[in-house]
Amino acid sequence: MLITDAEIIQQDEILPGYYRVTLSAFLAAIAAKPGQFLHVRCGSTLDPLLRRPLSIHAVNRERGEISLFYRIVGRGTALLAGKRKGEKVNLLGPLGSGFTMPVGVSAAVVVAGGIGIAPLYFLLQELSALKTCADVFLGASTSKQLFFTQEIEALGHRIFSATDDGSVGYHGTVVDLFEQNPAGRVYGCGPAGMLKRLSQVIKQNELCGELSLEERMGCGVGACLSCVCKTVNEGNGARYSRVCVDGPVFPAGEVVWE
Ligand SMILES: Cc1cc2nc3c(=O)[nH]c(=O)nc-3n(C[C@H](O)[C@H](O)[C@H](O)COP(=O)(O)OP(=O)(O)OC[C@H]3O[C@@H](n4cnc5c(N)ncnc54)[C@H](O)[C@@H]3O)c2cc1C
Ligand code: FES
Repeated sequence: MLITDAEIIQQDEILPGYYRVTLSAFLAAIAAKPGQFLHVRCGSTLDPLLRRPLSIHAVNRERGEISLFYRIVGRGTALLAGKRKGEKVNLLGPLGSGFTMPVGVSAAVVVAGGIGIAPLYFLLQELSALKTCADVFLGASTSKQLFFTQEIEALGHRIFSATDDGSVGYHGTVVDLFEQNPAGRVYGCGPAGMLKRLSQVIKQNELCGELSLEERMGCGVGACLSCVCKTVNEGNGARYSRVCVDGPVFPAGEVVWE
């Protein structure tokens, strides 16, 4: 298991409360796959005791750098945002199972709600390296929160935007926009309500898809069972899967939504 004291190369506040931090973590960068996460010690001491899971947002393997994109929601993320260039951040990972890269002719379609673009951006980097152009459905409450549009287009992908307030693109949810022309192999990440709707659209249209889930985590390595979600049991009924090791990426049809 890889534990790294990674130096901060850059930390930018992209929008008030939203940060992108780039860390020097050579071995983690080499090992990382899209959809995996790092379990981050956000403070410089053992308080808070628990690490916080953050998706691997971007990787530069040549430079041995990993970026995380995160929103401040509580103490851990606030402590991380307070760290400056040159300071160290202790990382555990890459952890979890990532996205399956598309094979053959199936077109890749990315559906991201808000901060859900965090892990999907790394997937888009990898698709671009494979010369695969994806249709990217980006949703947010307002235009300012449609993140990384220029970077995504520079990677060669096509963006379709949706905003709740209609300030840019389709006026409505990103899943409503995707539902107007549902096709391709779908990769989704965003709030639970959005993923539930997206999984219904995937099922109704008999598409293949993978969704990246979030649950509160303890250990991050499968031991404490604090991160379980309900999944389909082969045969019948449901079982509990651990988001940290069985996920965070699950086939869309496997998740049982309450
Ligand atoms: C696999 C995985 C990948 C993630 N990737 C990212 C990412 O790339 N960028 C990002 O901004 N966030 C991501 N998250 C969520 C992130 O882990 C939490 O926001 C963070 O742990 C909150 O820590 P905190 O100490 O700041 O807040 P806390 O003080 O721990 O909590 C503050 C509030 O946030 C809620 N909360 C905390 N964790 C979660 C969670 N996992 N899901 C829903 N609500 C939660 C709490 O219930 C509470 O209301 C990811 C979560 C998982 C499980
Ligand atoms: S966080 Fe401990 S089992 Fe998943």
